[in-house]
This record gives sequence, structure tokens and C-alpha cells, in this order.
Amino acid sequence: MINDKEHQILCNADEHILDEIRKRMYNGENIWSLPKRNRHDSGHALFQYPAMMVPEVQRTLVDIVKTSQPVIHTLIDPYVGAGTNITAGMHNGLNAYGQDINPLAVLVAKVRSGPFYIEALKERTKYVIETANLDQSTKIAIEYPNRQKWFRNDVALELSKLKRAIEQDDKIWARRFMWVTLAETIRLTCNDRTTTYKLHARPQYEIEDRTVSPLATFTKLISNNLQDLAAYKCELTKKGYINRGRFNGKVIVSIGDTTLNLNNLRSQGPKYFDLLVTSPPYGDNKTTITYGQHSYLPLQWINLRDIDQQVDKTCLSTTLSIDTNSIGGKRSRNLETQIDRLRQLSQSLANTFDKLEDKPIDRKARVASFYDDFIKSLDNVVAVLKKNAYMIFIIGNRSVGGVEIPNHQILCELLETRNAIQVTQFERQIHHKRMPHRNNNSLMMRTEKILIFRKTTAQGEIP
Ligand SMILES: C[S@@+](CC[C@H](N)C(=O)[O-])C[C@H]1O[C@@H](n2cnc3c(N)ncnc32)[C@H](O)[C@@H]1O
Repeated sequence: MINDKEHQILCNADEHILDEIRKRMYNGENIWSLPKRNRHDSGHALFQYPAMMVPEVQRTLVDIVKTSQPVIHTLIDPYVGAGTNITAGMHNGLNAYGQDINPLAVLVAKVRSGPFYIEALKERTKYVIETANLDQSTKIAIEYPNRQKWFRNDVALELSKLKRAIEQDDKIWARRFMWVTLAETIRLTCNDRTTTYKLHARPQYEIEDRTVSPLATFTKLISNNLQDLAAYKCELTKKGYINRGRFNGKVIVSIGDTTLNLNNLRSQGPKYFDLLVTSPPYGDNKTTITYGQHSYLPLQWINLRDIDQQVDKTCLSTTLSIDTNSIGGKRSRNLETQIDRLRQLSQSLANTFDKLEDKPIDRKARVASFYDDFIKSLDNVVAVLKKNAYMIFIIGNRSVGGVEIPNHQILCELLETRNAIQVTQFERQIHHKRMPHRNNNSLMMRTEKILIFRKTTAQGEIP
């Protein structure tokens, strides 16, 4: 039980959050919909991961909540992606835990959490580039199905030289920085089109005519990435959060399936968190954003053990494996039972199934498998939040078979039955988000909702 005084403090914190959000909406420019877009902010451009959040928006949200409730020390993002929310936590001096099912996301988020040994990285990357340029071997370092479809031989050869040279570096933090840069090099030099996240080869004439050199691309990207990392370190240093090249809080990023558990909390991290900040997937990957397909080619060249000891290499068995393992990727054998169960959990979800009644069965299955997994992961996440922890969700709606899925309403109902109270919700327009407006299966979002809740039950508990 909380006493009156504690209750008043919490209400004041909620009010303060609301005021600060409104101030940034109406005083001058609306920073939620028109944030400063700086591609070089906090290592944002190291790798172009799909649907990345805008650093300024996330940082401001965390700043507001932290200022309103100064006892906040630990942040969690259970669908961490490229780690924008982790960097937002670091800018606010918080310890942070992130996990994702996609090894490439984990790699990018790890690099963005440091260490920031810029001078050493300059030396090591210079040496690796020299070594790769001197490599006379004609051996292609990896073989996997369809390698030749996705990489011209000359491109594969230069990538092989880079891979061999990176492997020789004896520091994992240096190798990770170079693997991320190699991943972006691969994105830009392989035969996949850069206009979609799904794997889709360029036309043959274009593949043959293109002038691309992974060695040259990598060299340029290394220089850009070093500058970005140095600028990010400088920002953290100004705030007093860097000590001997490292962030002085604790940041852990792990591979993990949030529908199963939060992987490393028991052994390594804090058990309970003060703040959740996340942008979960808003549908199954296959029909929304194919994070896994987008990561498949780079991951073939990177030593998975360097990303995380626990990465299972079967995640690369096919181009679809990561997306199939992600939230909503697998269909239930017993759809009707699954839907009946889900109907009980949210009225808006039940209404959605009603609207999908006369649509092809696959449409209902898509929504059901997504929500079945999402709710499992939500329960795992709510269970590791402390009492009175704040939760910030950035969430988009989508349509399936022409029916709008009210993700934010469903989430509100799910959280209410988990004893969370809503502090506020507001909308953000997305002006330049790098994603197609439409794909074959669904209408893509152009606005997203920011929902802020506070959990009222004790840590470890979900009702
Ligand atoms: C919208 S993205 C997060 C983007 C991130 N906020 C950023 O700024 O880069 C959603 C993430 O959820 C991850 N995801 C999907 N299913 C998952 C699962 N079962 N466990 C953990 N992460 C999952 C995806 O791999 C993807 O990276």
C-alpha cells in the first residue's frame, strides 16, 4: 500500500510529464512531429536498420520522465532494434538493458553502447584496411546457397579480404565496430536492391554494369563512422557520462526472444527496471517489415560468436528464419481456439476479429499469431518492471485485409488489465521515415502513437 504522501508525489510526477510533453507540442515547434533530424546523432547512421526511432524524440521522452521522477536509474527495451532507446538512456545517465531476436540489431546496439576508444579504433581500422588491401588470396571466405546470386565474384573477393583482416584483430570491441561497418558495406555493394527491406535482386544488366568496390566503400564508411562515434562520445563526455572511454553506467545488450524470457537478467543485469522505452513490432515481420531478410546477407559474413555467444546459427538456415522466429511469425495449428482466447483479453481485439470474419482465413491468422506472441512478450516485460515504473510505447497501427488494426487501443486494454494506469497518449506524424508507404500486404503507418503508462503493481507481479 502507498500512503497519501507517496500517492501525491506520483501524481505530481505524472502531471509533470504531461506538462512537459505539452510544452514541446505547442510552444514553438512540435518536436514530436518535427524533431531535428541528424543522421549522425548517437551513431544513428552506423547501419541502416529498418524503422529506427528518431534519437531526439526518444532522448527527450526519457529526459522528461527522468526529470519528473529522479529515482529512475534503469531502462529496458525488450525489442531493442538498432538501440536508439539505449542511446536515449545513456544520454540521461541510465543503466540500460536491451534485447532483440535479430543478431544484427544486437550488434548495432552493442556498438552504440560503447566502448568509445576512438584513437585505438583509428589505429586498428587503418591496419585492417591495409591488411585487406595487401591480401592476395583468391579464396572467397564464405559459401552459402545462392551466394553468387547476391554477390558478384569481384565483390565477394573484396569482402573476403575484409572479413579475413577483421578476424585478425584481437579486440572484440574493435571487431564489432568493423563488423557493423562491413554490414553497411554489404548492404551497399551486394546485388540486393536498397529500396526495399525484402530481398529482391537488381536486374542482371544493372548488376553487371554497377561500379562497386567493398574495399573503397568500407574505407569511406569507417571514416564516417569514426567521426560519428567520436561526436557521440563527445556529447556523453560533456554530460559527465564517460570515464576512460567507457560509458560509466552499465549497459547490456543481448540476443533473446522476448516471448520466451528476458535472457540475461538473472545472470548479468539488474532484475527489475524503473523505465521501459520501446517501439515493438506492429505486426508479423513477413507482412510488415522484414527485419530478418534485411539482415540475412550481412550476417552471412559476420562471425556470429562476436555478436553474442548465444547466437544460434540456425537463424540463418533460410532467408526467412529470423522473420519466422520473430513475433507473429508462426501460425497456430488451432486458430479458432487461439482466437477465442485472444477475444477475452481485449474488446478492441475481439472487434477486430469480428471485422475480419468474412476475409480470407489467413488475415485472421496473421493478427492472431501476432497478438498471441506479443502478449507473451508483454507479460515477460511487465514482470521485470518495478512498482511505479513508467512505460513508454511508440506504436503504429496497420491494416490487414483492409481492416485497420487499432494496435494502440489493444495495447491500452492489455495494459489496463495488467494494472497499469495511463499517464498520457499523443500522436506523432512521421514525415521522412525511411519505409515504403505501402507494400503488397498492408498499408504502412504514417503516424504513430506515443503511450505512457505507470505500473501500479509490485515488481515481479503481473495480475
Ligand atoms: C520497431 S523495431 C525496434 C526499432 C528500435 N526502436 C530502433 O530504433 O532501432 C522492432 C524490433 O523487434 C524485434 N523483435 C521481433 N520479435 C522479437 C522477439 N520475439 N524478441 C525480441 N525482439 C523481437 C525485431 O527484430 C525488431 O528489431
